[in-house]
Amino acid sequence: MKQFSVCIAGGGSTFTPGIVMMLLDNLERFPIKKLTLYDNDEERQSTLGSAIKIMMKEQAPDIEFVYTINPEEAFTDIDFCMAHIRVGKYEMRELDEKLPLKHGVFGQETCGPGGIAYGMRSITGMLEIIDYMEKYSPNAWMLNYSNPAAIVAEACRVLRPTSKVLNICDMPVGTLRRMSQIIGKEPKDLEVSYFGLNHFGWWTSVKDKEGHEYLDEIREYVSKNGYLTQIEVDTQHTDPSWQDTHKKAKDIYAIDPRFLPNTYLKYYFFPDYVYDKMDPNYTRANEVMDGREKKVFSQALKIVEQKTAKGCGFEIDAHASFIVDLARAIAFNTHERMLLIVENNGAIANFPDDAMVEVPCIVGVDGPEPIAQGKIPNFEQALMFQQVTVEKLVVEAYIENSYQKLWQALTLSKTVPSAKVAKELLDDMIEANKGYWPELK
Ligand code: NAD
Ligand code: LMR
Repeated sequence: MKQFSVCIAGGGSTFTPGIVMMLLDNLERFPIKKLTLYDNDEERQSTLGSAIKIMMKEQAPDIEFVYTINPEEAFTDIDFCMAHIRVGKYEMRELDEKLPLKHGVFGQETCGPGGIAYGMRSITGMLEIIDYMEKYSPNAWMLNYSNPAAIVAEACRVLRPTSKVLNICDMPVGTLRRMSQIIGKEPKDLEVSYFGLNHFGWWTSVKDKEGHEYLDEIREYVSKNGYLTQIEVDTQHTDPSWQDTHKKAKDIYAIDPRFLPNTYLKYYFFPDYVYDKMDPNYTRANEVMDGREKKVFSQALKIVEQKTAKGCGFEIDAHASFIVDLARAIAFNTHERMLLIVENNGAIANFPDDAMVEVPCIVGVDGPEPIAQGKIPNFEQALMFQQVTVEKLVVEAYIENSYQKLWQALTLSKTVPSAKVAKELLDDMIEANKGYWPELK
């Protein structure tokens, strides 16, 4: 079987060790000859890189392994770039979450003002790594799961329309795992229909390969329990704040019980609830910094100190194996059916062609072919149109250095109560994001 050369951009990410272990666990399906970690933060990269190097020597000595902050070294002769960067790191995520609270609005990584601020930062970082990839490996594909994926995907559509970048999110994958538990199936045995934007969508069908529909059974469960299940399906979505989100799906579901909702709709339907539950001194960023980040980096230091990764506890991110499914689909033309964020072009019949939507696609050697989802109801269509316009305005504001358009984006967001609050928030966000955002005029 062909062997591939892979670069992980954001090599100093808290997810990197789990993703590397997942790749090692999937070598039979997706053989790797060279693995490179690339980050623009030397300290984070060398801490994780030196630990993973020890692990690679022990577990996969035949794979060439490199970690670097040099883009030419990282992106030369690669087949795939798996991208999970966080521009501004956790320090800025914390501000995205805490600053809106001062204005009576909740703060979140990808939704509302927090997501808009993060989006304005991410576009620059994403363009940078896409350009490196195209310069040093013009035939490579980027599999991107850096957030906020909706804004990143729209920026790619407008600014890098011919680049081979696929934007994918792990949330529908995680929720499908929960659904499969509810009905006693394996996720790989299920096929879904879904329409929406990233972090803003609905399942309309969950069938097994024989065509049996499970929607009613899952609806019955979700109407009582949300997506809260007995056994945890991954390590990422198990912290207390996530348990609340899985449970809250019950109330989101009640608004339109025809479909099964994405958990992130909580932020748009219940912003007052989210705001009231938030602790201004301790948000999700703090939960991750005190949890996953501390754990991963202390494990790395221990591995380096002991000169062995044996018994040192990096955990396989099995949940992330959808990234291998996506890479395989392109590399081996497997025609895998997956949810991706793609240009609509009629996939949702009554929605603009140029909107970046999340729908099932068949993925092969030339990338994704979206599967038509037909017409959607007025309620969902109106909500999606409002939200996609916010995302488009953010990208326009970025390109045109437009204060006006970013103010409009915040004013239009369902999460912000008035144009006055939007303006006050924007002025604070500009201050906080100096050096990360283009200068707005
Ligand atoms: P993290 O802060 O631990 O890691 C991100 C890394 O990116 C950091 O080491 C940082 O230095 C690096 N980075 C920032 N800008 C860069 C640039 N221009 N070039 C190279 N490296 C750069 O963050 P994390 O919690 O591990 O999350 C990483 C990303 O993955 C985030 O964007 C997060 O939102 C995303 N994520 C996506 C999904 C999904 O399925 N879509 C799921 C979970 C996390
Ligand atoms: C994470 O940091 O785990 C996320 O990217 C999603 C979240 O808020 O948990």
